[in-house]
Amino acid sequence: MIELPHRPRRLRASPQWRRLVRETRLAVDDLVWPLFVRTGEGVREEIESMPGCFRFSVDELVKEAKEAAGLGIPGVILFGIPDEKDETGSSGWDPDGIVPRAIRAIKAEVPELLVWADVCLCEYTSHGHCGLIQDGEVQNDETVELLVKAALAYARSGADAVCPSDMMDGRVGAIRTALDDAGRTSTVIVSYAAKYASAYYGPFRDAAGSTPAFGDRRTYQMDAANVDEAMREVELDIGEGADIVMVKPALAYLDVIRRVADDFSMPVAAYNVSGEYSMVKAAVAAGAFDEQAIVLETLTSIRRAGASVILTYHAKEVAQWLA
Ligand code: PBG
Ligand code: ZN
Repeated sequence: MIELPHRPRRLRASPQWRRLVRETRLAVDDLVWPLFVRTGEGVREEIESMPGCFRFSVDELVKEAKEAAGLGIPGVILFGIPDEKDETGSSGWDPDGIVPRAIRAIKAEVPELLVWADVCLCEYTSHGHCGLIQDGEVQNDETVELLVKAALAYARSGADAVCPSDMMDGRVGAIRTALDDAGRTSTVIVSYAAKYASAYYGPFRDAAGSTPAFGDRRTYQMDAANVDEAMREVELDIGEGADIVMVKPALAYLDVIRRVADDFSMPVAAYNVSGEYSMVKAAVAAGAFDEQAIVLETLTSIRRAGASVILTYHAKEVAQWLA
């Protein structure tokens, strides 16, 4: 018998011991469910590259929202798929556009469910970029003016939070000022503060038809190699009035989540993005591993890294498993 002062296995010996000493918990309370909304009625259109995810018409979306609330999911985040796209993304800030209609419908039927609205132009522009184009370049300040219009339209429709995902400079401050001037002082701003230019958004762009027609998003989204820069982005957004700061994607950026959680005393959200979801779905379909085990382990790792909120397409299934 070897003499050992510490035998770590003692505290792993039964589920009871493991539960008792567990450091991180994943709960339905942590989840926000991303949903795509389009026009029409009775439409549930499965997204090819994201099996199990759909583009819903507003009536179907409301059914899903009710189900989510019933499962204890605190909130959803909406992405609009408009019928028409144009150069300036005008359907994105139309007060009667697809997202304002969806917000009003959910708030009328499921008022307790938090409704977040993604604020960006790329789902609404014909060229697929997140801002106005001039001389082949995305313009910063002109874009911010349009993002402000979109955020106001969503807040006035009853959104609990607006979530700028465009990565233009100064948009959080401009949106906060406009919301306050409009009397919307209690609308929350969830800022996509450290959003990287990532190949992991591929399936989302398929879902939203928002792949850039030329170039890429590297002049506004962050370089994957940088983490100090992420701290500067987060600091700026907090200074401009962000209530929650987000890191996106999640899985390849757990170190960034940890740094933000350590350096700022703010709620940190992490976006378990479309590509992370699709990789899991494809591997599960190929028989590589058990879906519930891989999803719970993945989301637990995001919590362990320091995120208090996780945006995930797995939210509904996770809520069912944890119930
Ligand atoms: C819009 C936006 C994107 C995502 C969230 N908001 C796409 C992008 O920036 O290209 C990605 C979400 C995902 O991949 O799940 N700017
Ligand atoms: Zn965008």
